Amino acid sequence: EITAVTARQILDSRGNPTVHVNLTLGDGTLVEASAPSGASTGAFEAIELRDGGSSYGGLSVHRAVDGVNTEIAPLLLSKTWTSIREIDDAMRDLDGTPNYSRLGANATVAVSIAASRALAHAAGLPLHAWIAQQTGNTELLPVPHFNVLNGGAHAANDLDFQEFMIAPVGAASEELAVQAGAEIYHALAKRIRARYNATGLGDEGGFAPPISSPDEALELLVQAITDAGYTPGIDQIAIAMDPAANGFYDGDGVYRIAGVAKSRAELADYYAELCAKYPIWSIEDGFAEDDHAGWKILFDKLGDTVQLVGDDLYVTDAVRIRDGATNGYSNAALIKPNQIGTVSQTFDAIAAARETGMQSMVSHRSGETSDTFIADLVVGTGVGQIKTGAPARGERVAKYNRMMEIEATTTGLRYGLK
Ligand code: PGA
Ligand code: ZN
Repeated sequence: EITAVTARQILDSRGNPTVHVNLTLGDGTLVEASAPSGASTGAFEAIELRDGGSSYGGLSVHRAVDGVNTEIAPLLLSKTWTSIREIDDAMRDLDGTPNYSRLGANATVAVSIAASRALAHAAGLPLHAWIAQQTGNTELLPVPHFNVLNGGAHAANDLDFQEFMIAPVGAASEELAVQAGAEIYHALAKRIRARYNATGLGDEGGFAPPISSPDEALELLVQAITDAGYTPGIDQIAIAMDPAANGFYDGDGVYRIAGVAKSRAELADYYAELCAKYPIWSIEDGFAEDDHAGWKILFDKLGDTVQLVGDDLYVTDAVRIRDGATNGYSNAALIKPNQIGTVSQTFDAIAAARETGMQSMVSHRSGETSDTFIADLVVGTGVGQIKTGAPARGERVAKYNRMMEIEATTTGLRYGLK
């Protein structure tokens, strides 16, 4: 039973306002949640409600906060709720739009996450175990994907590809995976300091050296992995990339990388070349969100050997994921709760991926808070993969630390992609 609901404006990791929600429960327990925020957002994402005007450059969220306090709060207090889907459906009806453009997905996702914590508490279960029970999945400790080199919309350098990640696929545990990530991050820092005399960071805590060539970035990663005493390899320390191709799409099938224009076929060839040269196991948003022809070319070329992840392409929408499976766009979906607006719709997206034979990767946003919901989400749904930034900076390590906490406090959980 929820006895009080209060929302406030707080700051996210970029210093921009976001929504924070507190729920008081019948036994006096307080649960809370806050909403993350993207920078390279997909055009089809649920709407983040911002005030406009001059305060915080137009980014304040008082309207979203007021909507929670004056509309969603009375709804939540009106009855005793038994499931997260019931709460989410009621919020959707209250909003009355297909994409939460009235109340804001930044409001609904924070409420939905807090409500999930309330229901888990009522069930006497840790959040990850409650999620496993709700979704009927077997829990699994995921392979973390540490974003250690930043470009695109997340950094001030000229690197067009947004994210270069290291994934300790072959680690024996979450704890050892985190250790590998941190040791490689530090080895990379040393290399970058020596070669570029630069230690600047991007929004997700990865380094942002003054380079423009993806090849150079990948070369650096392989060296750092080796420097730290690990083995680069698809089943050891693998590499994943999120080029986030919306950011370098000129339209009409033309992409521009480090100043050079590439056709769809040339870009697909370039990805294939990089995969042959480096231990890249996963590529996210290799083509733009509306360039279905490009996605199909890449899927036909690499779909059997490389994980191809749709982020802006699917925006955590079960309908879009099913459509992607039918049309052969990709073999994996990125999962970000705030892209679709509620926890139960996030469960639907993961289920859609599973049912259509796709893999899923749970993800943070480039603007984050200390909320660790996605750590419990990835364990409870057993999808086996998460990306939540560098192994540094509080809002990023909060998630990795939560996964290690789950590992340390739960018996019988396996680590791995599957
Ligand atoms: P965003 O970036 O949170 O800025 O959208 C993350 C991603 O593209 O995966
Ligand atoms: Zn992405």
